[in-house]
Amino acid sequence: GQGRLWGGRFQGGPAEAMFALSKSTQFDWRLAYLDIAGSRAHARALHRAGLLSDTELEQMLAALEQLDADVASGAFVAAETDEDVHGALERGLMERAGHELGGRLRAGRSRNDQIATLIRLYLRDELRTISLGVADVVTALAGQARTHLGVPMPGRTHLQSAQPVLLSHHLLAHAWPLLRDLDRIRDLDARLALSPYGSAALAGTSLGLDPEFVAAELGFDGSVPNSIDGTAARDLVAEAAFVLAMIGVDLSRVSEEVILWSTVEFGFAKLDDAWSTGSSIMPQKKNPDVAELARGKAGRLIGHLTGLLATLKGLPLAYNRDLQEDKEPIFDGLDQLRVLLPAVAGMIATLDFQTGRLAERAPQGFSLATDVADWLVKQRVPFAEAHEIAGKAVQYCEQRGIELTDLTPEDVSQIDPHLTPGVLEVLSVEGSINARDGRGGTALARVTEQLAEAEQTLDAH
Ligand code: ARG
Repeated sequence: GQGRLWGGRFQGGPAEAMFALSKSTQFDWRLAYLDIAGSRAHARALHRAGLLSDTELEQMLAALEQLDADVASGAFVAAETDEDVHGALERGLMERAGHELGGRLRAGRSRNDQIATLIRLYLRDELRTISLGVADVVTALAGQARTHLGVPMPGRTHLQSAQPVLLSHHLLAHAWPLLRDLDRIRDLDARLALSPYGSAALAGTSLGLDPEFVAAELGFDGSVPNSIDGTAARDLVAEAAFVLAMIGVDLSRVSEEVILWSTVEFGFAKLDDAWSTGSSIMPQKKNPDVAELARGKAGRLIGHLTGLLATLKGLPLAYNRDLQEDKEPIFDGLDQLRVLLPAVAGMIATLDFQTGRLAERAPQGFSLATDVADWLVKQRVPFAEAHEIAGKAVQYCEQRGIELTDLTPEDVSQIDPHLTPGVLEVLSVEGSINARDGRGGTALARVTEQLAEAEQTLDAH
């Protein structure tokens, strides 16, 4: 069939609905530049195997060059009748190199090994861009942490008041997962660095083409050890979908806090005008849409991962057309993060932390109760008993509507004989924070070290 990659054994063309279902140019066209790069490498492999003469190679490369330029300029696009990017580009090659020469390029390769190679190349490229975006979010978090070194805030568990911590410590707790996401991308890249080209349909090729040569031409570290695996596996695409989903979830968790912090009730931070939106009816509104979109898109990214895993779970080896369903979710996931990451970075970098409010709230909700218990332990009271006594102190305050920091020496001696006025010395936010001075703790000295460590980790990426 004209402009089709198959048809010799068919009497008629495909049904209209069959073709509409099968067609993928509307989403796989973004791989065109990589398909052409693969074709260049493949042409050289054919030449090395004696299947293209010197002149034929030269003409083939010139035609591919022209095709590449025409794709880039938009002069060549997929036609309604093209099934996929591979078929469309073969048509484009034949238009430029003639049917005789253009028809030689497909020898020893299949769309199965082509697509498996292209998706790896594409992921390697795109994940580098995603890494830069993630790094910018880490930079925004670390920048805020540096600006606010020493500012206390209420630390929470179960969203209930727990212990005072430094705002910088809390912000860096959002930076570390993102730094691990950068590690994940780097680890994944090492696995993506093997080329399936040369696997052909599933069994490899009989034409003496060297997969290692093609791999090197395309910038891979080597070629896959198994041609069946090379064409049938999509675990690496699923792994990429996981990394995108994980980044989404990490952004969503910090975003959820931004949403809470910017409420009147919390009042911990104000959103910058440039990174929030108004309401069409309520004039007072300043809405955290960036954070909400981050939270929403995390759901979408998780859906892409689970959808892809479900697609893969029942597939026999080797290639099955189901595998085409990996493209749209992974492309969409990359597209979503490309717009989301800069917005989240901008929102975080411009958050206006209400440091007075944070400091005022830090000791509230009896968040220094653990310090009372720890003080008792230092007086050699067993912790179980110390916990009870500190609990009684909380109850005492609760009944009187006061905070632990309001206790007087008289109050203290009424609560329990083990408590002496000396305990009042540890009942301060600063004392509580700086007492937690082991590695990873919230003491200012430790957080200052930690910030440098986070910045170094980022620089190493
Ligand atoms: N478009 C397909 C994919 O994305 C590749 C083409 C393989 N088609 C085939 N009939 N073997 O996986």
